[in-house]
Amino acid sequence: MTTSTGSAAAAPAHERVLSPGLEGVLAGETALSKVDGANGRLTYRGYRIGDLVEHGTYSSVANLLWTGDWDPEARLATSAVPDAVLTTLRALPRSAKPMDALRTAVSAWGATQTLDWPPTPEQARALTSFSPSALAAFARIREGKDIVEPDPSLNLVEGFLYQLTGETPEPATARALDAYFIVGAEHGFNASTFTARVITSTMSDIASAIAGAIGTMKGPLHGGAPSEVVDQLAKMGSVEHAEEWLRGALDRGERLMGFGHRVYRAYDPRAAALRKVAEGMEHKPDWLQTAIGVEDMALRLLAERHPDRPLKTNVEYYAAPVLMGVGLTPDLFPATFSLARHAGWTAHVLEQAADNRLIRPDVRYVGEAERDLPG
Ligand code: COA
Repeated sequence: MTTSTGSAAAAPAHERVLSPGLEGVLAGETALSKVDGANGRLTYRGYRIGDLVEHGTYSSVANLLWTGDWDPEARLATSAVPDAVLTTLRALPRSAKPMDALRTAVSAWGATQTLDWPPTPEQARALTSFSPSALAAFARIREGKDIVEPDPSLNLVEGFLYQLTGETPEPATARALDAYFIVGAEHGFNASTFTARVITSTMSDIASAIAGAIGTMKGPLHGGAPSEVVDQLAKMGSVEHAEEWLRGALDRGERLMGFGHRVYRAYDPRAAALRKVAEGMEHKPDWLQTAIGVEDMALRLLAERHPDRPLKTNVEYYAAPVLMGVGLTPDLFPATFSLARHAGWTAHVLEQAADNRLIRPDVRYVGEAERDLPG
């Protein structure tokens, strides 16, 4: 490992390189995923994302991230929500955002557990199994419905859909959402993952780390744009009207949702995997064909406007039809993304704890010089 600590920290602040947003700063090492933005490639522990979607399950992928072992038979099911958490969820306003409810649930869950340091794969498994039940419970409580207890014969994603709807999902539907969970499980040092690692670095517990990560993912710059993809496609109406609408939006300086990425300069490999899933779905939303037609047109227009900046399709574009196709309402999209990211977040918590160093960067002071209090 090549590290730089002593000499950089010793230099006066005005002589050091300032990197707003930590852009380009190497703030750690990970063996969990490799995001190759230039070539549009993503691997989890060296395995290609497309292969994991085709041959794996979310359970096997979560197990791979936590343990490093590939076990296609690994099983993960949802778990019951402790009474104290249900009481907390029932006390929330029905209008609460699902992300707020999930963050609150994880925090309340932490208060019901003994979460000793260092965090363990068992703690990671327990939290990842709890959160889908908690989100499903809140979704039912806000509609005035009884909660549905977990069915241990179902895998985690099937269990989530069952506890949400009260009906055992069709295998194809569960399989499509499972693919989305695999694709959303892990993605390097993104903002929410970094938050989880900062919290862990203080030797705080795994529930605090994941509650913080959910709070970070809630922000519109991170939490994803699939519901806005749905809105934009609805505004276009049809492929025939799309070009006029797209040109108008770009003229107004608006962003096309589902395109562009901070890291990827090539087609996002997660979008490619989810497009395949969306096309193979039994209950595709009617507008999937519109989305496919609009994609080519949008890519052409973006290339015209930004010849020097490759702007390609990102994961959110095809997440939208998959999430709609499995029957989720758009207001559940960000919290569902958070459920999927639990595997990666908790794996990063374990990785941070295994070789811990308090994450505490420095800041350049730009305020008043030292002075006396007035009077
Ligand atoms: N539609 C239109 N123009 C876009 C664009 C988009 N989706 N994404 C980037 N651009 C343009 C910017 O307007 C900017 O143009 P300018 O140089 O003329 O000002 C240029 O491309 C570079 O944009 P920048 O904001 O520096 O890119 P970024 O890497 O910081 O942004 C995103 C990454 C994801 C925030 C951005 O691409 C975006 O807003 N995409 C739409 C939202 C979305 O799909 N989010 C989900 C991401 S997974």
